[in-house]
Order: sequence, then structure tokens, then C-alpha cells
Amino acid sequence: MEKDTICIQGGYKPGNSEPRVLPIYQSTTYKYDSAEELAKLFDLESPGHMYTRISNPTVEYVESKIAELEGGVGAMMTSSGQAASFISVFNIASSGDNFVMMSNLYGGTTNLFLVTMKRMGIEARVATSDMSDEEFLSLFDDRTRCFFGETIANPSLEVFDFDRYVPLVHSKGVPVIIDNTFATPVLCNPIAFGADIVVHSTTKYMDGHAEVVGGVIVDGGAFDWTKDGKYPELTEPDESYHGVVYAKQFGRAAYITKARTQLMRDLGTTVQPIAAFLINNGLETLSLRIRRHSENALAVAEYLKSRTDIVESVSYPGLADDKEHSRAVRYLKDGLSSGVVSFCVKGGREKAMAFMNALKLAAIVVHVADVRTCVLNPASTTHRQLSDDMLRKAGIEPGFVRFSVGIEDKKDIISDIEEAFKACL
Ligand SMILES: Cc1ncc(COP(=O)(O)O)c(C=O)c1O
Repeated sequence: MEKDTICIQGGYKPGNSEPRVLPIYQSTTYKYDSAEELAKLFDLESPGHMYTRISNPTVEYVESKIAELEGGVGAMMTSSGQAASFISVFNIASSGDNFVMMSNLYGGTTNLFLVTMKRMGIEARVATSDMSDEEFLSLFDDRTRCFFGETIANPSLEVFDFDRYVPLVHSKGVPVIIDNTFATPVLCNPIAFGADIVVHSTTKYMDGHAEVVGGVIVDGGAFDWTKDGKYPELTEPDESYHGVVYAKQFGRAAYITKARTQLMRDLGTTVQPIAAFLINNGLETLSLRIRRHSENALAVAEYLKSRTDIVESVSYPGLADDKEHSRAVRYLKDGLSSGVVSFCVKGGREKAMAFMNALKLAAIVVHVADVRTCVLNPASTTHRQLSDDMLRKAGIEPGFVRFSVGIEDKKDIISDIEEAFKACL
């Protein structure tokens, strides 16, 4: 089926006289006919639900829709995007191991990887896009367990170069994990470009209405975990699960099965059934919305480009002269580049704040990627404590504005920007 159809019809398929709309199974527990039936579930010998911390029918329907949208063999929803990113790595890395991450990841992910996971004894090594292939490969050693990048990086909007990095990472015998939050499965399927695992913050475009925090991990099912004995957690008996060998018993779904039965069981970063239901509502219109977000964002980016009197620079991969444009055309459906536009106003932090204060339709919020246009100036909010000099070292200009274009009429969004410019010129 086409993406537009999967967004609506994927996952839940009601039988005769069953509810047309995905039901919310608001139950923590499930009932069994016999103790033996339940014992089989515990031994992972038969499918079914045990306890909602681990799985739930509503959540499972949404997981199967997302797996279908991404072209994976299975998916596991989590309580947040952060939980998804964490589990995606921790599922195959332990104390003493390391992994390689791109330098342009979302700030929360960067902090999780470089600070919090370091305290667990897992080292994140940072790759930058200006590294040569040799420099990049020199980050990997025999304790390197995976690589992590973002399809469209938040907020630099760099587009991940699958053709370059996937073969390099695979030559080191490790899987590629991609955060596909900004692109969404409608605009890009990282698995089709060779990625092995995909994660999302469903809080963003998938929900699309800024209603629920959530995340998801999708398993591409193609990575061979048994080669080289590099992943004993998947190829040797799991003592915490009656000695199950995931690669043997679950084959292509080994990674995602282990993530659920072992890590979700132990960590409990569970998405609630009501949250999964709301995310599913968002998914039903994702395909329509992301096109509109992209069209509106391109119009906004073009307008900003024309305002050289007040705008210093504009980044948007959809712009024909953007440095990311060729990759956007290669990897994003029809070159559609999603809804976030980054730009720099002349006059630094003060001017950026004055501009934001003058906006009427676009709201100042700590969020991106929902139906309502919103805006954030990292220098005066998330990175407020940094001096201008420190900001630049972190790759953020003081006048940098992250503008998340909603699905209102583009004329109104542009006129809001125009009026705000007038007010602070
Ligand atoms: C690209 C990206 N990945 C992951 C996250 C983390 O997701 P969450 O806020 O749902 O934990 C975010 C949040 O902004 C994000 O933008």
C-alpha cells in the first residue's frame, strides 16, 4: 500500500462488527484460561499480552502501523523520543563499549549520549561531517557497537548522507541507527537507504498536535547479528529470560524482541494506551500534514531569503541554493524538506528576541513540528546561560531562530513575519 493509505489503514484491521476506530485497551492486565497458557507466554513460546508495561493491544496496533510505514519487521513504542534513542543503543551496548554519533544530533540526544550514558560506562565518539572517510573510520574499534545519525538534523537541518556513511559504518560490522523524527516515514525511509534501526520522537510530526510525548524504535530486520560474535546479547542465552537466544528464536526480529522483553520489562519506559491512540490519530493525517508543512516552510524560507535587509542567512534543505539541497532531492520524497526553517537575524540576540516578541500568530514555545507555527531562539532560551562567544563555539549564532512552520495558510504566516520585522526594524 502507498504511504497515504498505510497512514490510515495500517495497523488495526477490525473484523465483523468490531469498532471501526482503534479501541483504547485501557487495561494493565490480561486474563488467561489456564496457568499453562500464561507459562507459555512467559517462556516466549506463544504470542500474547502479559502486562501493559511490556505490551498492550492498542499500542501494538500503532506499532505495526509505524513498522509498516518505515518498512521494518517490528516496532516498539516508548514513553518519549529520549527513551527510544537510549534503548536503541543500550540494547546492543554495555559498559566498556563505545558507539559513534554525528555531532549535529538534537541537543537532548547529545546530552544523553555524551553525559548520561558515559556514567554507564558507554562512550559516545563524535563524528563531524567535515571528517575524511579515514578520520571517520578511525573512530571505530572492536568495542564499537553502533552508529547514530539524524535524517534531517535538529536544528542545523543538515541532511544525512546515507550513500556515504552507510557503507562506511557497515564496513566496520556495526549497524546504522537513524533518528528520522524531522523527515517522518512519509518523506524518508532510512531502511530503504541501508539503515538498520530507525527511531522517532513521535512527540513531533507523528502526533502532530503537540498532545503527547512519545517515541518509537523500528527494526529493519536485515542486520546480521550473528556475524563475528560481536553481539553476544543477541546470540548467547539471556539468563534473565530462561536462557532464550534472541537471534535463534526470533531471527530477523531479534533486536526488537530483546528491546521489549528485556529492556522494556526492566526499564518500564512504556507508552500509555491513550497516548498511543492519540499518536495514531496524528498518524492518520501525517501524510497530508507533512506535505503542507513542507510547502509552507519552502514559501517561508523563500520569503526570508528575500529579506536581506534584516535576515543574515537562511537554512532550509528545500531551497534550491541550500548546501543540503542535493541530498534533500536524493533522500526526501519529491525533495519535500519538512516544516522547520532555521535563520539568523542581523543584530544578534536582542534583535532575535524583539522579532519573536513581535510575532502574533507564531507562538514562542519549546517545541517544533506540530500544526501550529512556533518559534524559538536558542540564545535567549535553551542556551541562555552561554555568552555570544560560547554560543558560536557551540555552532549557534546569537541571532539564530528556529522557526517551525505550521499548516495554517502560508500567507498569514508570512504576513506575521513581515509585521514582526516591521516592528523591530
Ligand atoms: C530529532 C529529535 N529526536 C529526539 C527528540 C527527543 O524526543 P522527546 O522530546 O519525545 O523525548 C527530539 C525532541 O525534540 C528531537 O527533536
